Parts: sequence; C-alpha cells; structure tokens
Amino acid sequence: MKIIDGKAISASLKEAVREQVGALKAKYGRVPHLTVIRVGEDPASVVYVRNKAKACEACGISNTTLVLPEDISEASLLDKVRELNEDPAVDGILVQLPLPKHISEARVIETIAREKDVDGFHPCNVAGLWQKTPHMSPCTPKGIMKLLEAAGVDPCGKRAVVIGRSNIVGLPVAKMLLDANATVTLCHTRTVNLAEVTRQADILVVAAGRAKMVRADMVSPGCVVIDVGMDRDPVTGALCGDVDFDAVAPIAGAITPVPGGVGPMTIACLMENTVECFLKRVQ
Ligand code: GUN
Repeated sequence: MKIIDGKAISASLKEAVREQVGALKAKYGRVPHLTVIRVGEDPASVVYVRNKAKACEACGISNTTLVLPEDISEASLLDKVRELNEDPAVDGILVQLPLPKHISEARVIETIAREKDVDGFHPCNVAGLWQKTPHMSPCTPKGIMKLLEAAGVDPCGKRAVVIGRSNIVGLPVAKMLLDANATVTLCHTRTVNLAEVTRQADILVVAAGRAKMVRADMVSPGCVVIDVGMDRDPVTGALCGDVDFDAVAPIAGAITPVPGGVGPMTIACLMENTVECFLKRVQ
C-alpha cells in the first residue's frame, strides 16, 4: 500500500507557480491578484479561506479576502461581485461556498465574470468541461487527476467509481475520469447496494461528506482510493475523511490521507488557475 502524499505533491506545484509568478512580474510589471469573498463565519470556510490566502502568500500571488456579514442581501453581494468584475487589478474572484440560505449560489456564480472564475463554476466553464472546449477546470477534480498522475495511476481502461454527485466534485471528476478513458460509475445516496458497486472499482473517489462511510468490505485489494472528505469523527471529534483510513489502507493499492491528501491539491490548483486567469487577461 502506498500513501499518496498530497502535501508533498502540492508543495512542488506551488513551487512551480512561485517561479512562474516571479517571471510574470518581470515580464508584465505586476503579479496575479486573487480576491476571495467569504460570507459569514462558517468555521470550515474560515479555515479554507485562510489557507487560500496563505498559499497566495507562499506563491507570491497578491490577494485580498473580503469578509461580508452573514445577513448581507443577495443584491449587495452581487453588486460586490460586479464591482470586482470591473476592477482591472483583480484577475481571479472566488466566492467561498456554501453561502447563507437566503442567497442563491447559482446567481452568484453566474454573476462572476467568466474570465475571472478561478473555481471553474461558471455555467460557461461547466459547459466547456462537458463539451471539451477551452475552460477553467474546477480545483478539486483537477487536483484529484494530478494526484492520480503523480501516483502513476493511468485511468485508461480502469473501472472508476465516484461516490457523490455534487457540482463541485462528483460530477466534474466523473467527467474528467471519463475523458481519461476510465469506465465511470457515479454513485449517490440512493444507490442500492453501494458496497457491491464500490468493490468493482480500480479507482474509488469518495466525495460523500460522511465521516468514514467507506469501510474495508467496500474496497477490493489494490484499489486506488481518493478521499475528498473533510469530516469530524463522531466519536473523537478529530478531523477525518469519508474513508475509514485505518481499515481501508491495508487493502488499498494506494490511498490519500486526510488531512494531507486532496485538500492541499485543491489549493495548489487554485493557484494555477489564478495564474491562468491572469495570463488570459494580459494576453
Ligand atoms: N467550498 C468547498 N469547496 C469549494 C471550492 O472549491 N470553491 C469554493 N468557492 N467554495 C468551496
């Protein structure tokens, strides 16, 4: 069994971004700028947004975090996004999800200028992924594909099973695995006899949002397991993933830990996407 070290792989990606940013500064006289909006005080979002700012600092990407009150109106948030769309000094805009219930995430996402959409969530970018036309790729699925590549796992011809059908992870990673020529099965909360399906997997991507839901009996020997979960163990309160790591690791061919697997890759890909947005705007 091999542990796929997302922390180390993301560190080398960020180092490459840092070097690239240095070259961009010399060539264009400025560095990329990312603006992150957080609405309210969701504790997970506070941590994620702080980590994004830290990564920007490490890569030499200039950045701003806007913290807006939980009770901000949708109209005011949309105005803020439009203002950033018009600001020539801003290359990338990220609105941290989830948003408070009174705000439509779909309306916020479609208001972000397509060329500043570092998350790849805008309908035009989603269409680009599904139609194989130029687009910004969403960070977590992109990071997962890079983890597989770094671990020497070619999805071509493999059976890939994805648990979770979210717009952020499940759907786009299924499409990317399909484009990498895997045979893909997408499972969700209504899947009947999930374990029977997951035991068929050569590659298992788990983005269910349920602590330790993948048990040893759900994984076949040699399976490559990618755990997207960021959960709390209901017993100990410790940070854990959607996979019961201690039980599954001895069976898996390779597995990502939580923390230190997918999470840091998402952030490294956000850094890449910010540079990509910058490059499209200066060229
Ligand atoms: N919430 C959880 N993951 C993400 C992400 O990749 N981007 C944004 N904007 N919000 C998230």
